[in-house]
Parts: sequence; structure tokens; C-alpha cells
Amino acid sequence: MPSLAPHIASVPESGIRRIYEIAVELDDVISLGVGEPDQPGAPHILAAGAQAWADDLTGYTPNGGIGPLREAIVAKLARENAIEVDVEQVWVTVGGTQALHVAMRMLLGAGDQVLVPDPGYTTFTMSARMLEVEPVPYNLRAENDFLPDLDELERLVTDRTRVLIVNSPSNPLGTVLGRDLQLELLDFAKRHDLWVLSDEVYEYFTYGERHTSMASLDHDNRVFSVFSLSKTYALTGARVGYLVTPPGLSTVMRTLQEASIGCVAMPDQIAAVAAITGDHEHVADARRHYLSNLTAGASLLDELGFRHIVPAGAFYLWVDVSHATGGDVAGWAERFLLHERVAVAPGSAFGRSGEGWIRLCAAASEADLLEGIRRLPVPGTVH
Ligand SMILES: Cc1ncc(COP(=O)(O)O)c(C=O)c1O
Repeated sequence: MPSLAPHIASVPESGIRRIYEIAVELDDVISLGVGEPDQPGAPHILAAGAQAWADDLTGYTPNGGIGPLREAIVAKLARENAIEVDVEQVWVTVGGTQALHVAMRMLLGAGDQVLVPDPGYTTFTMSARMLEVEPVPYNLRAENDFLPDLDELERLVTDRTRVLIVNSPSNPLGTVLGRDLQLELLDFAKRHDLWVLSDEVYEYFTYGERHTSMASLDHDNRVFSVFSLSKTYALTGARVGYLVTPPGLSTVMRTLQEASIGCVAMPDQIAAVAAITGDHEHVADARRHYLSNLTAGASLLDELGFRHIVPAGAFYLWVDVSHATGGDVAGWAERFLLHERVAVAPGSAFGRSGEGWIRLCAAASEADLLEGIRRLPVPGTVH
């Protein structure tokens, strides 16, 4: 058999998938590992998608997406994100995942470096490795409220650095980058002439400060923004997201889309129009449900004596279990799943700084979340 491309071996396996694959083989598992909303899809969205299939709207669409969807996104960006763009700057993608990938493919070449949050969403590193790009982790440490440290970023930047990835609200941390910090990050990017790739897929789920879109603060066209319908509308399997680019890139974007996906499935795009233009009460309900779970989960963690983040966004709890893991949280999470029947995401799956921590997904029933927490090894007891 011929060999694979040599760099493919350097693409890290997802530590979350590993837990998921063990969990599906077991009975009675409390599932807090995968970042999957537990809400049903809203009827008006599902009906629009079903009608599109029934009407045989199954042909190719333009590479950037159908006109009504791109226009609905332009209006939403102006209304919700204070981002004023032309339709040609909006590209409908296969979830946020492909938006990230296509942006990285456009901005980074082999041997370049990209600054990625650590802990941070796994795909940032995986995509970089697939492109023979070096991911350079910047730490989000407890000592700095789990926020980026500008001095550290200054130390990490080299003449090969081309892109800074930011993610707010953060997966896995649930932290939010405030406006002032985003301005400082933009300033840093400008000083070093970097592109910024801003992942905002949890934009609708913030619990204090309202979400700020990096591109709304950008005056010199260096920000690419990644959005998704997956989390907002509980449509993770519909696979619709979008990339918002600076102006003047439509020819290259069209080519990249053509060669990688062609287009997103038309019924999914039609469902997406219904989602974006339709009633949002179900999104408000989901937000209330996540906040209520996060509050209940955080207060139980406090009661039991766990160190954790009080999330300002997304739907995750980031919990210190280093007292029980012996320096190998990934191995511990597997044993914990087998013995206690609770699936959690090991923090090390999100980068080196995640060692000793776990991520619990609070997009679950409150009963499951609280029971999952009760089964954790309490600090200060012998394990
Ligand atoms: C930070 C972040 N970005 C992007 C994605 C990708 O989402 P999707 O491809 O389902 O839209 C996820 C999914 O978990 C995420 O957590």
C-alpha cells in the first residue's frame, strides 16, 4: 500500500471522540462529554427543511450559498453583531468547522505559525496540522482569569506567525473576551500584521456582558469571523455555518469553496433561512436552560469544594480534578467513565494547559448534570 502524506500522522486524535466512542458501547451513561445541545430543533426550522426535501430542492447552489440565506445573514450581522458587510463577504459553510478550515487554508501556508488558545477548541490545532502549519499555543491560565496574556503573545510571535485565533465565548472555558481586551488583541495583531480568526459560534449564549464581535471593532480589514447555526439553534447535524471575510476576497473564496465542498446542501440552507429570519423564542429558552444548569452545577461544585470557572458564556463547566488524576486526566476520564458511567471531556484534549481539568457540558438535563457532578471524586478525600 502506498504511504499517507507524512504530515497526516501529526494531526492529533480528538480526546473527546475517544471518550464518546467508549460511552456509546456502555449502558446508562450520563453524557456530559460532547458539546451537543440537548434542545430539540424548532418546528418552523425543521418544517422548512422538510418542505425543501419534499419540493425536491436538492440541486447545487452557488458556492457561497443561496441568495436569501446570504441576505438574511447580512441583515443579522448588522442587527446582532454590528458588522456591516456586503453579501460577497458572507460564505455559507459546512458548520463552523469548515468555515475555520477554509479560512486557515486561505491564510496559512506550510511552515507558517498560527497562535491558538490553550486550552482551546481541538479543531484549531487539528486543522493547522492538516495544513502543515505549526500551531503555537498561548495559555489561558487561572492566574490571568483564563484570558489571553498580551505579554505572552508578544513573546510567542515570530516572523512566521500569520494568524491569531480567538474564541469568545470560549469552548472549553466558558470565558468571554470583553470589548477592551478584544481591542488590545486587535492592536497586537496590527502591530505584527497578523490576520485574526474570530470563532463566535457560541455568540447567543452569554450570561453577563453581551457578546462583542471582533470584526465590529476592526477598522483595517484583518478579521475573519466564524459563526454557526449548530449551537444557536441546536442544529449540530444540519451542518450550516458561515464565514465572514474582509472585502475583496470573493474570487479566491469561490474557488476554495468550489474545490472543497461545492456548496452546502440546499435543504439545510433553506432551513437556515427559517432559523435566522424566524422566531427566536426557542433560542431564549435554550439560553435560560443553560444558564439555570450552569448556575445549579456551579453551586453544587462550590458546595463540594471543587475549583471551577463561573462561566460567562457557552454551556460548559471547567472543573479542576487534578487531585484525582495523577497527572493523566485523559486516562482518568476513561476509568471514570467505566466505573462511574459519566462521560466528561478530559481537559488535556484542549491543550497542555488543560491537564488536570475536565469540561462538563451543561447542555443536558439538570438531573444528569448534578448527578454527574455528585459522582466526581471530591477534593480532600483519598482516591
Ligand atoms: C469553538 C467551536 N468552534 C467551532 C465549532 C464547530 O461547530 P460546527 O462545525 O458544528 O458548526 C465548535 C463545536 O463544538 C466549537 O466549540
